[in-house]
Amino acid sequence: MLPGKDTRAGLIAPLALAALVTVAGCGRQEAPDLVNGKRLFAGKGTCGSCHTLARANTKGTVGPNLDDAFATDKRDGLGQSSIEGLVIDQIAYPRRGGTMPAGLVKGQNARDVAAYVAYAAARAGQDTGALATAAQPAKGPPVAEKAGTLTIAADPTGALAYVTDKASAKAGTAKFVMPNKSPIQHNIALKGPVTGAGPIVGSGGTSTFTASLKPGTYEFYCQVPGHEAAGMKGTLTVK
Ligand code: HEC
Repeated sequence: MLPGKDTRAGLIAPLALAALVTVAGCGRQEAPDLVNGKRLFAGKGTCGSCHTLARANTKGTVGPNLDDAFATDKRDGLGQSSIEGLVIDQIAYPRRGGTMPAGLVKGQNARDVAAYVAYAAARAGQDTGALATAAQPAKGPPVAEKAGTLTIAADPTGALAYVTDKASAKAGTAKFVMPNKSPIQHNIALKGPVTGAGPIVGSGGTSTFTASLKPGTYEFYCQVPGHEAAGMKGTLTVK
């Protein structure tokens, strides 16, 4: 790989080759489920929080606008299945050191997301039928501190989110506990009248720290680059 290979031209050429390998290398496959793909794409803290895609109603700006990214490819006659292959490879192998997390969705879910992007990118009009109502999953209920402990888990599906975006606690010493059952690394940190941060942990780990909370409004958030911007944060109210 040449240095500085972060332009789109440099990104797509190696991916195109990899896409051929991916498509050829897979055996029997189920047809992709576009509704599932759209739901995963637009779900809180996933692709759409970093990427704009008009049909999915997402407006993220951390990563490239995917309508723009694939407009030329579609105009040049690159088929939907080739674009699907490019997206599958981007999901599995984003630029090293970039902010796009690798493997946010896997297996059939990754194929569904890629198939939806290939279908929807730079396509005029709006989704209809079941695709029009593919909604994002609801946020979990607020978390309250119990006996000095606040347990706020990372979203287990790999979405860049916690299971809730609202928490409350009483003033005093509180232990923050973030179990991470998601496939990617996360931590939990606090900013506001008092700050604190637990270690970044991989799948199966638990990030914890203790803080002496004063009354006020805080934000809890993940310090892995890009995650807070993608929506992995919430409000903690201390009384
Ligand atoms: C935290 C932000 C973030 C999330 C979440 C994210 N991406 Fe990205 N994505 C980026 C950035 C930044 C780039 C630019 C290239 C790079 O860093 O790899 C990118 C590049 C891409 C590209 C290449 C676009 C081009 O110009 O060729 C595609 C396709 C893509 N992402 C699809 C996805 C899909 C599908 C998901 C969900 C599974 C996703 N992204 C989740 C930030 C994100």
